Amino acid sequence: MVRERQKAPKSYVNRSLIASIHPHGDIAEQYRTIRNNIQYAANGKKIRSLLVTSSSEGEGKSTAAVNLAVCMAQRGDRVLIIDTNFRNPIINKIFNVQTSPGLSNVLGQQLEIREAIYNTEVEGLDILPSGQRMYNSTELLDSQIMVDVMEFASEHYDMVLLDCPPVLGISDTNTLVSKCEGVLLLVKSGKTQLALALEAKRALLFAKANILGVILNKKSG
Ligand SMILES: Nc1ncnc2c1ncn2[C@@H]1O[C@H](COP(=O)(O)OP(=O)(O)OP(=O)(O)O)[C@@H](O)[C@H]1O
Ligand SMILES: [Mg+2]
Repeated sequence: MVRERQKAPKSYVNRSLIASIHPHGDIAEQYRTIRNNIQYAANGKKIRSLLVTSSSEGEGKSTAAVNLAVCMAQRGDRVLIIDTNFRNPIINKIFNVQTSPGLSNVLGQQLEIREAIYNTEVEGLDILPSGQRMYNSTELLDSQIMVDVMEFASEHYDMVLLDCPPVLGISDTNTLVSKCEGVLLLVKSGKTQLALALEAKRALLFAKANILGVILNKKSG
């Protein structure tokens, strides 16, 4: 069973979902370009799982992940976003559902994954919120259960997008890299320091990430 919730009236759609609110605007167009470039970067191989991260906090990872997911769903893909940021979960807030139950309950074997997935008002786009914060998150994300979660997701969705915490400072993201076919590294114009961006790239490559590209956020800001 997937949790069906009442669809939010359009006026309550979170403003982060810019690709949904203004599907014909410039920003949506840029996300569509990134969506299409992902396949080119993968040399035509169909990428079915993607991880979005950056070097530091607050650079726009979640915003990019949800808008990319919206554009993929608008193309007709069945898309699942998994919120793996237990420190600062935001996907549930953007889609107006509780943080829990979520991934942590699935990893803690309190719930089946299908019971923790929510439909959203965007057709074709489902979300798995983070669940409550776990202090042994790295171990649980590194477990066979997380492998099972990814397997289930890949069987039921065309694209599984992992909204991750920063790659530097905590190990959670590195643990997830090997479970995804592609990685997008986000840098924020005027904020991300070059040294940190390079360190993030090194850390991802060390974890054997298939870095498909870099998203430059807030270019005009
Ligand atoms: N291009 C942008 N223009 C304006 N505001 C933006 C842009 N990208 C992100 N933001 C805003 O910046 C804030 C942080 O964005 P977001 O939550 O996506 O960052 P994050 O990297 O996921 O953070 P965290 O490291 O905590 O997970 C949010 O309020 C979001 O709406
Ligand atoms: Mg985030």
